[in-house]
Amino acid sequence: MLRPLARGDLPALENLFADREHMWDLMDIPGRSSDPGDLARYYLERSLWAFEHHGAGMWGIREKDRSDAPIMGYTGFVMDIGDDVNPAERLEAGWAIARRAAGRGHAAEATARVLEHAFTDLGAHYIQAITSPHNLASRRLMSRLGFTYDRDVVAYQGPQVLYTLGRQDWLAERRSPGHRGGVSREASW
Ligand SMILES: CC(C)(COP(=O)(O)OP(=O)(O)OC[C@H]1O[C@@H](n2cnc3c(N)ncnc32)[C@H](O)[C@@H]1OP(=O)(O)O)[C@@H](O)C(=O)NCCC(=O)NCCS
Repeated sequence: MLRPLARGDLPALENLFADREHMWDLMDIPGRSSDPGDLARYYLERSLWAFEHHGAGMWGIREKDRSDAPIMGYTGFVMDIGDDVNPAERLEAGWAIARRAAGRGHAAEATARVLEHAFTDLGAHYIQAITSPHNLASRRLMSRLGFTYDRDVVAYQGPQVLYTLGRQDWLAERRSPGHRGGVSREASW
């Protein structure tokens, strides 16, 4: 179950970022605090801003049929406050699932839905995702979602890998026999 991050998600986000060992790839970014409370507020505020200005930010992920439970993570699109992006041209995807809920397919299922939203409702043509070379879980998630390795880049804490997914490849993947569907045009699912 997905819905845009809201102020009430702050404690859950703070708990998520407090697990430094699990969240290592989002820590120690120059110019950004690594304090869990600061990070939680930073992610929340920029997501609220992104939804208000561009209609796409981070969605909180909850267990199905547990609308009262704290979010177990988030997925969506990375935009900094003030970014002058055109979601139809280029979006950057990002995600995190609490350690207790990781490895059960939640990130893949939830992110497939936000990609669908981006390509069908926001008219996105191209989505990129960046991670550390050693973040095998994130790289595997990208591959499973149809992203392909594009090139090495320097971003965030240093050397990173850039993966991309274009609209045509996404459409082709959707038509493939193994595709598992699920479409909603609403902001919350
Ligand atoms: C990356 C992350 C969101 C993946 O979430 P998840 O719920 O475990 O992902 P899924 O269960 O949907 O699994 C996606 C794929 O990754 C694989 N995977 C999961 N954990 C893995 C690990 N530690 N090492 C290698 N592959 C892994 C799964 O087997 C699956 O591959 P498959 O489709 O071949 O079976 C999660 O590990 C996480 O939150 N990490 C910390 C935050 C982070 O690093 N975010 C990304 C910053 S760029």
